[in-house]
Amino acid sequence: MDRAPGLSVRLKLTLSYAGFLMLAGVLLLAAVWVFLLRYVPDRALLIRSGTPLNGVFPIRSSLLRVFAPRAAAVLAFLLLFGLVGGWILAGRMLAPLTRIADATRMATNGSLSHRIRLPGRKDEFRELADAFDTMLARLEAHVAEQQRFAANASHELRTPLAVSKALLDVARTDPNLDTGEVIDRLHAVNTRAIDLTEALLLLSRADQRSFTREHVDLSLIAEEATEALLPLAEKRGVTIETCGDITPTIGSHALLLQLTVNLVQNAIVHNLPEQGAVRVNTSVRPKTVVLTVENTGEKLTPQLVSTLTEPFQRGTARIRTDHAGVGLGLAIVKTITHAHDGTLTLAPRSAGGIRITVELPG
Ligand SMILES: Nc1ncnc2c1ncn2[C@@H]1O[C@H](COP(=O)(O)OP(=O)(O)OP(=O)(O)O)[C@@H](O)[C@H]1O
Ligand SMILES: [Mg+2]
Repeated sequence: MDRAPGLSVRLKLTLSYAGFLMLAGVLLLAAVWVFLLRYVPDRALLIRSGTPLNGVFPIRSSLLRVFAPRAAAVLAFLLLFGLVGGWILAGRMLAPLTRIADATRMATNGSLSHRIRLPGRKDEFRELADAFDTMLARLEAHVAEQQRFAANASHELRTPLAVSKALLDVARTDPNLDTGEVIDRLHAVNTRAIDLTEALLLLSRADQRSFTREHVDLSLIAEEATEALLPLAEKRGVTIETCGDITPTIGSHALLLQLTVNLVQNAIVHNLPEQGAVRVNTSVRPKTVVLTVENTGEKLTPQLVSTLTEPFQRGTARIRTDHAGVGLGLAIVKTITHAHDGTLTLAPRSAGGIRITVELPG
């Protein structure tokens, strides 16, 4: 913002210190003056009472002559003292501000790793500096996360392109190649690239919160999702059980359906090789509504589970050849949940598998 130049805070504080000191000085001198007057008789009073004026009495006019220059000297000294003292004191008080301003300037120039770390006991300036340091730490972590995400996304997008190029190169140089097979593989690679791009688009759309909110019922959405995924479950020999109350909430039907589909699909795909089970449940709490999806499966450690919502994070050891996911399913679930002001909880089940809970405002 462009502002007209003004007095510095240090100068303003100095002037107010000196001003108050002068005011106190004037009041004190006035008090002394009034005190003196009570003991010094007036010349007119003396004449009227017939007291001879050549006596030993000091009279008011001569007192004023003595008092006035001394009072002026005292005031001049107080002014000087107030200005110098005020300048030094204000400088010391405002020193932390300079450090905070320096850190702000560095952050503006892109250096987010710098911290103010103001030493000393707690006061207003320390609180401001600490709040600023916390903000810088958050900002730095957020920027690092975005950079990691962009790097991962570019890497994931490059892979199908590189595979297609390799396939095309082989097709061009090898005359007796089975073109049918190449086309099939190109088709698979292409589908994967489209899936990935769509997942990325969905992620950014949910992140921007630019969707219309409507009244929806989570239990209906859960039913819709499980119905759509029944063929997949049958193919994998997984049984799905859906139960729950009517769970009214407000949000985007399309996004909440996507969330449920991602969760149920994960529960089917990352399940036991045979005789797996999935349970989808919806329930109402006093202020919230809850969707729970749990499934049987391999035993997972809490550490591993806590990383699964990171974009492109896949439980590496367990990727099956027929489901090479892109690793964005749970990241999308997390983003959609947060966009609906809800919370997402992942907990490993002691018997194996996982329980995922999405809690949304009711
Ligand atoms: N219900 C679940 N049970 C066990 N493991 C799970 C479950 N859901 C997710 N996981 C683990 O978390 C990882 C990340 O899941 P996520 O949905 O983000 O990616 P994905 O399923 O691999 O790929 P996609 O983006 O196609 O969904 C999975 O690779 C899997 O290892
Ligand atoms: Mg998934």
